[in-house]
Formats: sequence, C-alpha cells, structure tokens
Amino acid sequence: MSDSPIKKCLFPAAGYGTRFLPTTKSMPKEMMPVVNKPLIQYGVEEAMEAGMNGMAIITGRGKRALADHFDINYELEHQIAGTDKEELLEQIRHVIDNCTFSYTRQIEMKGLGHAILTGETLIGDQPFAVVLADDLCYSPDQGVLSQMVELYKKHSCSIVAIEEVPKDETHKYGVIAGDEIEPGLIKITDMVEKPDSADAPSNLAIIGRYILTPDIFDIIRDTPPGRNNEVQITDALLTQATQGAGVLGYKFKGRRFDCGSVPGFMDASKFYFENDLY
Ligand code: UTP
Repeated sequence: MSDSPIKKCLFPAAGYGTRFLPTTKSMPKEMMPVVNKPLIQYGVEEAMEAGMNGMAIITGRGKRALADHFDINYELEHQIAGTDKEELLEQIRHVIDNCTFSYTRQIEMKGLGHAILTGETLIGDQPFAVVLADDLCYSPDQGVLSQMVELYKKHSCSIVAIEEVPKDETHKYGVIAGDEIEPGLIKITDMVEKPDSADAPSNLAIIGRYILTPDIFDIIRDTPPGRNNEVQITDALLTQATQGAGVLGYKFKGRRFDCGSVPGFMDASKFYFENDLY
C-alpha cells in the first residue's frame, strides 16, 4: 500500500513487562520470539504492509537489543555467507533495507500516554500509527493496520482497534462506548481505562493498534495522570473524542494474541508454528 497517508509507526516499548518476569528482567518483552521471530518484527512487518516505512521506537533502560535487531551484524553475516542459513536472515534484511528506524528513550515510565508523547520528536506533525508489539495480530488477507489505514483515508480522524472481551476481563483494558455508524465502526462517546466489570461502559476493549492525528500530542500534554498515577492514552483519546475531531473504534478482522501474558504467548506460539506463519 504505497499510497498510504500514514508513513510513520510508533512502537512504545519502554514498559517493564512484569507479567513475563524473570525473562524481562534484562530483556525487552518485544524481543521474545513467537517461533523464531521477535514480537517487534511482526509489528514492523504489519506496519510495512500498511505502507509505512518510518519506524519510531520508544525504548527504556535495558532495551538495546531492539536497536541491535534492526541493524546489520557483519560478523554473523560473514560467518554464514554462502551457507543455507543465509535465508534465515532474508526477512530481517528486507525490513532493514526498506525502513528507517529512530529511537528515543522514555526516561521515566509514566504510562502509555506519556510514552506516546515522548515519541513526538520522532513523529512530528503528521498522523501516525501506534503498535503495541505484545499484541500480536493475525489476519490472513489484510493486516489490521492496513485495514485501519483504509478507514483513515475515509474518515481522517483517530481510530482505535477494538474487540469484544469477556465482561470479567474489562479491568485489563481501555473500554469504549459509542454509536455504531456502520457495521463494525463505532463513533466513541465514552472511554474508561481498566474499569471493573460493574463500571465498564461495554465489553469493547481497545487493543494495541491505533491511528492517531497529531493534535493528540497537545491533548496528552494537558492530560493529568489517571489510573495508577500514569498518563493514560485512554484519557487523552476521550478528550479527543468528545472535544476534538472525534475518535472511531474499529472491530478489526483477525485474531489477536495477548503475548504480554504467558497464556496468550503460548497460544500464539502454537498457532504460528502449526500454521507455518513465521
Ligand atoms: P503494559 O500495560 O503492557 O505494561 O504496557 P508493561 O510494562 O509493558 O507490561 P506488564 O503489564 O508490566 O507485564 C502497554 C504498552 O505500553 C508500553 C509498554 O512497553 C507496552 O508496549 N509502555 C507502558 C511504555 O512504553 N511506557 C510506559 O510508561 C508504560
């Protein structure tokens, strides 16, 4: 999709990944492999399929492996040159050759909203995508970001991917409510971060795919810390939904695996291995 109006994708990857300790003690969770490919590479490939080539990664302490992954390892490549192992690096070479990567560090982990604001310097004044790489999305015909870019072309406003979750799991997500303006597309009127099931406005949860218009940066700047004393992107998006250009919730086509949790990661590994998707 080379005519995409969205060229840059932001990957907030500064979180501690506590659900995956001890692995994440010294290794970013985004580098955990589903079969033989790290989560972050699946995310980058999804963004490329949607026509993006500027990858902006928010890192933190102990996350250098992310930058090394998207770089050439001359020694290794020299070592395997001419052997059949060379083809194992073909996909990542294709990624490196066709994208630019930029990085900035989130110095203090003040929440996802704050992480996205930290990325302003890498994104500038243009609409952009956000991928939380631990949400691995599989969609056989068209990737989730690509589906969302098509919608953006039509509606030119922020869009969040949503999915129905069991009522007793709403406390893990940002949850939305709104009016369905066409099948699977909801104009958002309310949004709550990690509500208990009794307070949840619906069972429609935001997952880790967003398209955001750049006015979101000013809105985040004005958003006080919310749940867990963190600056929540959900709170900023509610402001954008109710006072700005509006925000759409999109029931994406495909399947999402919560690879930030052990069961979700195991499900994804099994599914990707058995269906030869790596
Ligand atoms: P999570 O809620 O999954 O938190 O963050 P986490 O720290 O990564 O994982 P757990 O819950 O402790 O196991 C959602 C996304 O936002 C990023 C994370 O890296 C993840 O991609 N994030 C979160 C930041 O980049 N900075 C923050 O301050 C918070």
